[in-house]
Amino acid sequence: MSDPAGPPAEALAVAAAVAATSTTIEVAAANPLRDPRDKRLPRVAGPCVMVLFGVTGDLAKRKLLPAIYDLGNRGLLPPGFSLVGFARRDWQDQDFAQLTHDAVKTHARTPFREEVWRQLREGIHFVPGEFSDDGAFDALAMALREIDDLRGTGGNYAFYLSVPPKFFPVVVEQLKRTGLAEAPDGSWRRVVIEKPFGHDLKSAHELNEITTSAFPESSIFRIDHYLGKETVQNIMALRFANNLYEPIWNRSFVDHVQITMAEDIGIGGRAGYYDGIGAARDVIQNHLLQLLALVAMEDPTSFDAKALRREKEKVLMAVRLPSDLALNTARGQYAAGWQGGEKVPGYLQEDGISPDSMTETYAAVKLEIANRRWAGVPFYLRTGKRLGRRVTEVAVVFQRAPHLPFSKDDTEILGQNALVIRVQPDEGITVRFGSKVPGTAMEVRDVSMDFAYGESFLESSPEAYERLLLDVMIGDPPLFPHQREVELSWQILDPIEEFWATQGQPEPYPSGSWGPPSADAMMARDGRTWRRL
Ligand code: BG6
Repeated sequence: MSDPAGPPAEALAVAAAVAATSTTIEVAAANPLRDPRDKRLPRVAGPCVMVLFGVTGDLAKRKLLPAIYDLGNRGLLPPGFSLVGFARRDWQDQDFAQLTHDAVKTHARTPFREEVWRQLREGIHFVPGEFSDDGAFDALAMALREIDDLRGTGGNYAFYLSVPPKFFPVVVEQLKRTGLAEAPDGSWRRVVIEKPFGHDLKSAHELNEITTSAFPESSIFRIDHYLGKETVQNIMALRFANNLYEPIWNRSFVDHVQITMAEDIGIGGRAGYYDGIGAARDVIQNHLLQLLALVAMEDPTSFDAKALRREKEKVLMAVRLPSDLALNTARGQYAAGWQGGEKVPGYLQEDGISPDSMTETYAAVKLEIANRRWAGVPFYLRTGKRLGRRVTEVAVVFQRAPHLPFSKDDTEILGQNALVIRVQPDEGITVRFGSKVPGTAMEVRDVSMDFAYGESFLESSPEAYERLLLDVMIGDPPLFPHQREVELSWQILDPIEEFWATQGQPEPYPSGSWGPPSADAMMARDGRTWRRL
């Protein structure tokens, strides 16, 4: 792996020089890997404290703490940066530092460097307490004031709520009561919340009421980590920085679009979160509808948050459900099966799942977009756990050529042209088209042209959370969905969930397969098939 940073000590020193004067800082860090033609300055966070609620959770250990270290290692954090953990543990600072250290060592993307860790370690603090304990939040407020004095963090705090949604109200209420939600002049306060943003339109609305009672909309950062992925942001570059695709990106040329998020893992230890939520609420409401919006939206007038969100909202407003949900949706639940050579249990046998749970672990839906560009073009979305392999992709499948001046035999196995955005794990883009098979006949067959990130760029892509945490600290909101997008997405999903609630048990599918037969039947009725992955 190439080292994405210049010498971190140097970069931190440069950041230090300007950190004292500005909250959004752009500094020139010496980085030998930068293209010399690139005159842009790296985006660096200004002085601040990140307060993490839910430090012992899986997300903190696997993603958030490693991402903070990776940002430090890339020279993108200011020297006074401080990290405060808050949890119901009888811990001292060193216990939280140890947890962070272990998480970084196991999960960080960039190499472990003692000097970077030492600098980060100096800013690590822990405040023990229950969310309902006023005294604990008073202690938090006091600790933050001391950190400001000692480390020059200037009263700039980001509160990251990596806790189950049922705790949002009490934490937000405490931040309000202690005055921590309110930014004194010249400083900022931000709150970061993780999906799920409610479990339907009504609860999403209520959650928003609670959050906006303490923080202004501009200080609320809703994380949908898919938007932090390089390959997802590249959808906008692909469409709007090129002239090649946009002229054919419409109903005159596109036959249909398939958006797939397949996972090979089961629910692991997440029964408490997942059961009753299911695949559609877990990822269609957010990740997959955001992908749909980016693929289908018009070009925004700029990439600032307002312009971008406006275009995404317009698409979400135009999404229509098919009239017959029984024929145009599918849901399934994984049964026992084989995966990676191992026998794995079914969903109903997982720890913490009741044997009659009706939660779906696979969901597929067909949507249409009622506007001039997309009328009549189906968008098929599917996601599932314990499928054949882990792959997320967007496939834009084009109509067949209007006429084939070849013999029928020569084009018998020719498929449709497709442009596939490979979101993960093999990040890149594939274009599939027909080509002559070498030989004396005019036989035509599908071939692919590939772009792979790993081959075209020196630097490995940052993790989604590196990008998003940095954006929070800088105060840059385009990659965070607005409440309106959240509510529009629930408006799309709620009728499907209501329909499914009347349909009894989801259809079982063997672990390691590609989902329930009803999902294939849904495509077959339209004369189509799911892409084989
Ligand atoms: C989360 C879902 O949002 O995304 C999980 O809650 C899912 O169920 C995860 O496993 C997948 O993320 P990624 O980045 O690995 O595709």
